[in-house]
Amino acid sequence: MKRFFVNLLAWLWVGVALSAPVRRGKAFDRFITIWLENQDFAKVVVDNRIVDLKRHGILLTRYFAHTHPSQPNYLAAIAGDYFGLNHDDWVRLPEDVATIVDLLEEKGVTWAGYFEDIPSPGYMGNASDGSTGTDGWDYVRKHNPFVSFDSITNDGERLLKIDSFDAFQRAFAAKKVPEYVFMSPNMMNDGHNTTLDYATKWSHKFLQPLLAAKAFDERTLIALTYDESETYEEPNHIVTLLLGNAIPPALKGTEDDTFYTHYSMLSTLELNWRLHTLGRYDVGANVFKFVADQLRYTANKEPENAATVDNSVPYPGLLNNDTSARLPLPFPNTKLVGASGLGILPSIEKALSRTKITKTPYDGSGKVFDGDKNPPVYKPPAGNPS
Ligand SMILES: *[C@@H]1O[C@H](CO)[C@@H](O)[C@H](O)[C@H]1NC(C)=O
Ligand SMILES: *[C@@H]1O[C@H](CO)[C@@H](O)[C@H](O)[C@H]1NC(C)=O
Ligand SMILES: *[C@@H]1O[C@H](CO)[C@@H](O)[C@H](O)[C@H]1NC(C)=O
Repeated sequence: MKRFFVNLLAWLWVGVALSAPVRRGKAFDRFITIWLENQDFAKVVVDNRIVDLKRHGILLTRYFAHTHPSQPNYLAAIAGDYFGLNHDDWVRLPEDVATIVDLLEEKGVTWAGYFEDIPSPGYMGNASDGSTGTDGWDYVRKHNPFVSFDSITNDGERLLKIDSFDAFQRAFAAKKVPEYVFMSPNMMNDGHNTTLDYATKWSHKFLQPLLAAKAFDERTLIALTYDESETYEEPNHIVTLLLGNAIPPALKGTEDDTFYTHYSMLSTLELNWRLHTLGRYDVGANVFKFVADQLRYTANKEPENAATVDNSVPYPGLLNNDTSARLPLPFPNTKLVGASGLGILPSIEKALSRTKITKTPYDGSGKVFDGDKNPPVYKPPAGNPS
């Protein structure tokens, strides 16, 4: 009998926990990022559907991808570095490489990755045919950053959070979309194997229910972004639109000309949910201005080398396929403090506690790096620059 009551109480508690609205972020309670492929800022910004979507949000006019081709940009957005990657083939990062997932889970923030036409939850293959039947060009691993990290794939619970667009639609209908969501449409809808117009048409349609008045009970920030630009010779300038009911009404239809990269997603999330840092390039990346302004965060600044960076040329690193440009995996900088005012994730620090960290490329400066005039500089770890 006693056990019956204990069980009953447990179930009631679980029931309350599942139905309670999530209201935990400082400026937003949910973040959904949706990734399109390979278009230049100048062409996207004049597209009718993007112009129409812009009425609902903030256009970031100086948002730059890190390098080419696609895959390094996806990895950067969840790991705070792309580790010298210069190709789209199969890669794998060892178990001690932490990602945004570790930061979120430490604070109990729920998350998922949704990939259109992934054949099953946790699928780790290179590609799969799906709804459009284009012979292995619907779902592709290179657009799913989670599966390249052993710290995610070696953990069954984490692996099963990598799921399909159908799973997203079910969660949306049930009002149970996790608090952090990363989504890649298939290779047709994201524009990779189609056109700019095809992908913006898809995005406009896909976003309508998410932008409806009653779509979410919690303040939800949606970042529609491109992974990289189309033209390798141009600065890697892309369109990112901030949308959703977390956008203050007075800012709808406005532009923000702060310098951003995919690392800005990480620093914004760190500030919003008071997350620790990864001790990589997440530290020092500018926080989305409307969030920074609301939370009186004043450290945003123009990277001092923004004018000379060639963000089309990848820098050397562990994942570079050119053996002469290969370097060991860099240690995170355990001395850095992130946008939230917290230091490196305790589990990362603990794992490194017996290691003598002689040099690290991560300096918290917000500078941007390339394989040309601005290579990362490896130095003894030091605190944030003042
Ligand atoms: C490295 O990757 C690039 C981009 O896919 C490719 O063009 C190049 O041939 C590769 N180099 C080697 C040494 O595999
Ligand atoms: C994925 O591609 C890699 C490298 O090209 C290959 O070694 C591996 O066997 C492939 N995996 C699957 C499941 O096809
Ligand atoms: C998609 O694009 C790739 C090259 O980027 C090409 O090899 C492939 O055949 C294309 N697939 C379809 C279905 O268009």
